[in-house]
Amino acid sequence: MKRIDQETVRRILDTANIVEVVSDFVSLKRRGANYIGLCPFHNERTPSFSVSPARGYCKCFSCGKGGSAVGFIMELEQMSYGEALRYLARKYNIEIQEHDLTPEEKDRETARESMLAVNEFAQKFFEDTLAETPEGQDVGLAYFRERGINDAMIKRFHLGYAPDNATALYDAAVAKGFDSRYLFDTGVCIRNEQGRIYDRFRGRVIYPVHSISGKVVAFGGRTLRSDKKMAKYVNSPESVIYSKSNQLYGLFQAKRSIVDRGKCILVEGYMDVISMHQSGIENVVASSGTSLTDGQIRLIHRFTENVTVIYDSDAAGIKASLRGIDMLLAEGLNVKVLLLPDGDDPDSFAQHHSAQEVEDYLAANETDFIAFKTKILLDEAGGDPVRRADVINDILRSIAVIPDVVKQQVYIAECSRSLNIQEATLGLQLSKIAANRAESQEKEVQRANAVRSLEQTAPIEHTTETEAVAGLNYLRGFERQVLRYVVKYALCEIGVVTGADAYSEQIESINVLDFVRTEMSADGLEFNDPLHRRVMEMVVEAAAAWAGEYPDVCRKYEAMREERMKAGLQELRESGLTVSAINAREAALREECDRFVHESIDNESLEYVSRTLCSSPDDDVRRLCTELSIDRYQLSKVHTKHTKIESERECLSRFVPRAILEFKCATLEVMLRSIQKELCSTSDSEQQNSLIIRLKELKELHAEFARELGDRTITPRKIN
Ligand code: UTP
Ligand code: MN
Repeated sequence: MKRIDQETVRRILDTANIVEVVSDFVSLKRRGANYIGLCPFHNERTPSFSVSPARGYCKCFSCGKGGSAVGFIMELEQMSYGEALRYLARKYNIEIQEHDLTPEEKDRETARESMLAVNEFAQKFFEDTLAETPEGQDVGLAYFRERGINDAMIKRFHLGYAPDNATALYDAAVAKGFDSRYLFDTGVCIRNEQGRIYDRFRGRVIYPVHSISGKVVAFGGRTLRSDKKMAKYVNSPESVIYSKSNQLYGLFQAKRSIVDRGKCILVEGYMDVISMHQSGIENVVASSGTSLTDGQIRLIHRFTENVTVIYDSDAAGIKASLRGIDMLLAEGLNVKVLLLPDGDDPDSFAQHHSAQEVEDYLAANETDFIAFKTKILLDEAGGDPVRRADVINDILRSIAVIPDVVKQQVYIAECSRSLNIQEATLGLQLSKIAANRAESQEKEVQRANAVRSLEQTAPIEHTTETEAVAGLNYLRGFERQVLRYVVKYALCEIGVVTGADAYSEQIESINVLDFVRTEMSADGLEFNDPLHRRVMEMVVEAAAAWAGEYPDVCRKYEAMREERMKAGLQELRESGLTVSAINAREAALREECDRFVHESIDNESLEYVSRTLCSSPDDDVRRLCTELSIDRYQLSKVHTKHTKIESERECLSRFVPRAILEFKCATLEVMLRSIQKELCSTSDSEQQNSLIIRLKELKELHAEFARELGDRTITPRKIN
């Protein structure tokens, strides 16, 4: 097991050209300094996916997805950080230097990798047993044949059979050198209390469960007996590599088709997925019998916004599952439902109809979820007016979770027609529901934050818990603003005014990172949000790494300058101009080459930090930094020229001190509020006096800061 060396990582990140990388998946058109195309993360007809070669980013302005070259590949191909780097290295023929893992890295990785290796071995073992052994063929293969599954599907879904023998897999794996520990950790083998070992799936047909990137994370084993007492399916237990609630069966095989068709079909079981695939409908996944989880829904949303849920018509659970569908709506997905003819499930329906018939049935019978829910609930309520009112409220509750207000409005209009109730009445009731929900959500968030803040080191003293939470939330925005400048412009030089008074005032050049750090440490300020702190540390690291690379970069451009000069001089010599003309041109050429070197180095240093952070292996850091670095306006269709970037960069000398000052001001406000609270709660007059004095000091300082914020030129000041 190896890890890619930092230098190789650097080389890959430096080489990967965002336009080239994205072009492998999206057809791009030039638009000013940027490129645009149809977003690969969602279905759209007008392009909102923008790629900025200058900054090395891409971003969709409609769904918000995108990132650096590595981030883009990770998101689109659902690869891990390492996989994405290897992909890019292959694309650019970069030789990968790797090193062995440190002991801790190893322990963590070993367990995971070894378990995946065990599962892969087991999958192969089950497949081979099915295809090549008499028992496999007579029992397993015969079963799949009887269910109408063809060889192509057996291969595609890696279906298999586990011999009906207590330790067949165990023996084979141990003989192959696998550590038995991982056989138990993955759960393919079990050791009971008496110490007896046996294969979990023995005598069953096997449905492997694959992660999005195609790794075998679990198995489902179906019994072939019709013994009612025996569980129909036995599944792998939860483990380091398998979290049932974050997997969808068939997603690996379906993901391409989901993106192509712009829709995901949701069914219940393994067989439903496989039979639908066989009939040519490949954008199908299964929740594997349990109700949908948030994790599964987010998984779907990575690939599409449109979901069709298929129900067996005889499923008693339609009503019970309606609530699960509200979760899909809340995630912002467009939900349709489809009811199958009496007595059919997706498996039997696909088996008994031609591909075309299945397609046609789907197209003709898909119903919008809200309309579907309205109909079945109203049918059930009959003429009873009280029950009808309940139904209407129930429907409104579903509409209330939809995040898009325009869509809500469309549904209100539609319900008004179908329920024959005035739109205004429905609208009013909807806002009531929404308000109630917001209130209870607010409480929920506060509770969660309070718990979290207990885990953090309390940065603001003397405050009650909820007060501190409110303070943190308030400060978060100001912190982000400062952090945004740090991530985006860390190494940019700005001019700031120093000196104690107007007489000793002078302008000093300092880079944004150093400026922010000095300002913050002078006041003992730290970011309160732990993620912000982590990003700050990583920026400092990246800046140090840049200092190490700086000489090389300079050498690189110096060499380029030499070449340019040489070529230019050669041209001049051959031009046949007079000596004085040649001299004049030579001076101009030299100047141009100087400017080129200067600007190139400047640009590289500007982008180094943000590019490094936007390509970080830490998911939270990468996401936040990508968000901070990509300015909506900067990449939007309107501002395709560099004007916007230039102007912000040129104004940094004003913007950055201002952001710091605002952060300090906000910190003071939080402190003031907490002192006021304390003042109210104490009756000790001595303490009251000292609090009042402190309050007055802070108020004066705050007033001063606020005044400065109103001024055009500002000198950063200190809180003490
Ligand atoms: P079904 O009972 O509909 O199974 O359960 P199925 O996939 O259609 O299987 P066949 O047609 O009887 O062969 C739906 C899903 O619920 C999970 C499985 O993922 C199954 O595919 N399930 C069901 C279990 O995990 N354990 C069980 O005992 C039953
Ligand atoms: Mn079935």
